[in-house]
Amino acid sequence: MTIRTRLALGVALQTAIIVLVVAAVQFLALRSFLVASESQRLEGLMPRLTAELDHRPLTARPPLVITSLPRNVDARVVQGGQVVAVTDEFPALPLTLPAGYAPRAGHQVLVAPLVLRGQPATAQIASDVLGVVDPLRAYLRALAVTVPAAALLVALLSSALAGRLLRPVARLQAAAARLGQGNNLRLPLPGAGRSDELGRLADTLQTSFTQLADVREREEEFTRAAAHDLRSPLAALKVRLQGSLATPRSEAELRENMREALADVDRMQRLTDHLLLLARGTRTVHLRPVDLADLAGEAVDRARETAPDVRLDFETWGDTLIPGDEALLTRLLENLIGNGRRYGQGADMTVRVWGEPDRVRLTVQDAGPGVPAEALPRLTEPFYQVDAARSGEGNGLGLAIVDRIVQLHGGTVLFEATRPRGLCVTVDLPRPQPTKNTTCAASRAREPFRT
Ligand SMILES: Nc1ncnc2c1ncn2[C@@H]1O[C@H](COP(=O)(O)OP(=O)(O)O)[C@@H](O)[C@H]1O
Ligand SMILES: [Mg+2]
Repeated sequence: MTIRTRLALGVALQTAIIVLVVAAVQFLALRSFLVASESQRLEGLMPRLTAELDHRPLTARPPLVITSLPRNVDARVVQGGQVVAVTDEFPALPLTLPAGYAPRAGHQVLVAPLVLRGQPATAQIASDVLGVVDPLRAYLRALAVTVPAAALLVALLSSALAGRLLRPVARLQAAAARLGQGNNLRLPLPGAGRSDELGRLADTLQTSFTQLADVREREEEFTRAAAHDLRSPLAALKVRLQGSLATPRSEAELRENMREALADVDRMQRLTDHLLLLARGTRTVHLRPVDLADLAGEAVDRARETAPDVRLDFETWGDTLIPGDEALLTRLLENLIGNGRRYGQGADMTVRVWGEPDRVRLTVQDAGPGVPAEALPRLTEPFYQVDAARSGEGNGLGLAIVDRIVQLHGGTVLFEATRPRGLCVTVDLPRPQPTKNTTCAASRAREPFRT
């Protein structure tokens, strides 16, 4: 069932229920009004009855016939247990009835005391109940027609209104379908920018489609770059192998060719390793308590061994234990320190690791030439290189991998230019908050530790 039909039926049903409740209240009010006014009318007839009987001689047998009352009212007067006056068609009622006004035997009956020639008597005045029932029946008949008519009218009106209100949804749906077919997720959606609910829906869809388009473009770019980077070593390998087969070679030449071929295979293996690392999902990462300062210290030591003449300082303080993946964090440290080495032109470097209550912070800073400001936001793009010529063996994936590792740990990474020159990379890795009563002396900040 469409929203339009559901809305029309729902509103019609609600209207019918509301009208019926109102009608029931009105019905009860009308009935008590009619009963009360009938009682007043009968009371108003008492003086007329007394006046008629006062002026006529009374005999018990036969009783006097009352003639002064309207035609739809009957009356009887009882004195000393005997009917002394009565109208022609008085209903079959007992002689003694409690005083008051009540419905009896299909009539509204008023029983009231009166004094006839100095003696007490009781008057019973009965009016046909139709005086009350007829207007009520007419009211119910009117309701039987008006309630369904009102419900039908409301259903038609709300269906028309719903159709009008839902028209933008149909337009939005058609536009979204066109977007999918035309493969252009950046086309503007109708209704976007409006301040109502549909405008907000269109805005949300537009934002999601734009994000999807961004992701798709990034993926296409990534695949193109990966294919391109794999193609070069593959082509080189092919040329080398074809060359070796085409002309006879000495054993030494063949060994040299094989060494070069192995270097090509190495490059391709590194690239595929990097691509696999970038594609890793959070579920494949197993976080265990790791001391980031220990890992950084080891990475610094290894870097110092490979280039002992470059100054590389290491400072750490505070509690630097985090839930982390040791192999991934080692890769992150080596990529950052390696970059400082490769692009820092031998300038001094400092690695700092320190603990804060909710996170551990790592900074890798060098005083090299740094990167231009406009390149800073692009550093984590896969295959992005500021100056490919200076990258040597690099393929532009190092910082993309750093970014992915930080993401897998739920952290953040920031690249900033340092003054007067150089690059500073700040990595924040979160750690679970210690509960208040488990803090102990060991977790408080220690004095800075330098090597
Ligand atoms: N410490 C640094 N100083 C200057 N430039 C850097 C530094 N680190 C990275 N870069 C620039 O950022 C680019 C991307 O780095 P990265 O992703 O590690 O790729 P690559 O494989 O080229 O090293 C590098 O090509 C280099 O131009
Ligand atoms: Mg690198």
